[in-house]
Amino acid sequence: MTTRRNAIGMGLGSALAATLVGKHTARAATPAPETALIVSTWDFGAAANAAAYARFAAGGSLLDAVEAGAQVPEADASNRSVGLGGNPDRDGHVTLDAIIMDGKGNCGAVAALENYVHAISVARRVMEKTPHTFLVGDGANQFAREQGFDATNLLTPESEKAWKEWLKTAQYKPVANIENRRGGALDHDTIGILACSPDGELAGACTTSGMAYKLHGRVGDSPQAGCGLFVEGGVGAAAATGVGEEVTRIAGSARVVANLRAGLSPEAACREAVEHIVRLRGSAVSGAQVGFVAIDTAGQVGAYALMPGFTLAITDRTGHTRVLPSKSLAGPEKG
Ligand code: GLY
Repeated sequence: MTTRRNAIGMGLGSALAATLVGKHTARAATPAPETALIVSTWDFGAAANAAAYARFAAGGSLLDAVEAGAQVPEADASNRSVGLGGNPDRDGHVTLDAIIMDGKGNCGAVAALENYVHAISVARRVMEKTPHTFLVGDGANQFAREQGFDATNLLTPESEKAWKEWLKTAQYKPVANIENRRGGALDHDTIGILACSPDGELAGACTTSGMAYKLHGRVGDSPQAGCGLFVEGGVGAAAATGVGEEVTRIAGSARVVANLRAGLSPEAACREAVEHIVRLRGSAVSGAQVGFVAIDTAGQVGAYALMPGFTLAITDRTGHTRVLPSKSLAGPEKG
């Protein structure tokens, strides 16, 4: 088995030679790209896609669709990395980051939002009701209040209990890779959801409670245009998940879309961004996870991750949804 740690040690060329494909795709042939109406990060994206698909099918716009999709994990208290029930920062505050964007340059975002479940809807209001693109902290909270959003305590008993357990051994330090642990409450991350209409229009949304037990005030990649999400009309859209600092360093989603613009397939576009992180950071990203998903104007979809374990949910134009493992730099997808 090739681990990502020894893949980095082999050097990028060897690492790529050792890259294996996910369990549902063949290695030798260049597979036909997947096509989709909606694609999102992680297996919990399937429920988000269903809501997005239903909204679009009922006559909603693409923005309506991705907003409706993002609201699903935001309202799910069992999801510990998005919205209600999200892991708090080290001081016990649940702070949310979100962005929504279309292919015409319309964009709204919030960061460090507290006490409002649907950060994605506050972000959309920023886009539609202000001349700005990004509100943070107290200003974002004030705006949400003024816009009539209902305030709620986002710290559930379960997430509070886990935080208090963490405090016992954490020495009050954030842990960079506390997300993405497999098999536990922390094994999910940001949702990024991208949609492409039958006529090639694009929109995307991204929402998260960010890195668990982060320093108060930390903002990751997710709400930053070009980092957690980027949409460019006539080209494509991309979203990121994983350790936000690594995505932000390379303006990851903008890089993936630039790769699409240069003619790469969605998967190759995502892979190049992942490779660039490794080129730039080497062993500093050992053990960290970053994943990208991308869609182009034809609805072709691709993904790539640093580590095995990343999944994406794809909903086609008939409403059929599949969850697939992403290929990764480190090696084969493990069951
Ligand atoms: N990717 C989410 C975060 O790092 O905040």
